[in-house]
Amino acid sequence: MPGMCGVDVLRTDLVHPLLSGNKALKLAGWWQRYTNGQYQKIITFGGPYSNHVHATAAFAYALDIPLLCLIRGYAQVELTPTLQECRNWGAQLQFLDRRAYAARYDLIFQQQLAEQHQALVIPEGGAGVEGELGCRSVADFAQHYDQLWLAAGSGATAQGVEQGLQQLRATTNLVVVNVVADQGALAQHWKATAARADKVRVLDGALGGFAKQTPELIALIKRYDQLGLPLDPVYTAKLVHAFEQYQLSRSASASQKILLLHSGGLQGRADRQAYT
Ligand SMILES: Cc1ncc(COP(=O)(O)O)c(C=O)c1O
Repeated sequence: MPGMCGVDVLRTDLVHPLLSGNKALKLAGWWQRYTNGQYQKIITFGGPYSNHVHATAAFAYALDIPLLCLIRGYAQVELTPTLQECRNWGAQLQFLDRRAYAARYDLIFQQQLAEQHQALVIPEGGAGVEGELGCRSVADFAQHYDQLWLAAGSGATAQGVEQGLQQLRATTNLVVVNVVADQGALAQHWKATAARADKVRVLDGALGGFAKQTPELIALIKRYDQLGLPLDPVYTAKLVHAFEQYQLSRSASASQKILLLHSGGLQGRADRQAYT
């Protein structure tokens, strides 16, 4: 980490220019499922700025798999750069208003889609057991650190990493920075279910709301750009913000080895003028 001794960054954003970060990890898990089944197509869900939809479109394009993306929004609205690129890669975009989009979690709706299209249906964000499975590999890198910090939206990445740490019997503390303003729901969930409850901490890192940008955050991103660590505005910048607060509060003599997961999302910068 630039300017911080004993703090490393796992740059999964560098895995591939288009398919990177936790999206690559989750899709690796879903790919196993695809190859084990008789699927003709992939169907997935996301908003107009979705990193997951973008990565899945790149993935489907590279592997020549038909892809249908059910997008929260309206067809008559100009496409975001994220969706424009997906369309350029051949993804079929179908728009659903907020009410119709709410059905994305409905297992019967997902089952109907799967049968109608002979499709593998990947939930929003690439979440689900397969997505978590793909994220377990982060534990291989994190197991010799005292702390691993990562950003959470759905929490699937954190869940997968925690499973990997448990498998390895690692003593690494997991610090989950929740970028969704969910009134503590994710923290409650972890409190109730985590097997290593004493090793997992969920911090509120939403900074006023999911995807909300503040002048402070924009300045932080610009500062890290100068230092050679590009951050995305929705997840990793908020992760680093929470981590900087922690650094300020801890004793200068603390000598813990800390790893931060850079989970990608840099494509999202194209959607925001402040960073282009
Ligand atoms: C770049 C990036 N980092 C972190 C996350 C959070 O991942 P999860 O939803 O698995 O908690 C996401 C969203 O999926 C993301 O796009």
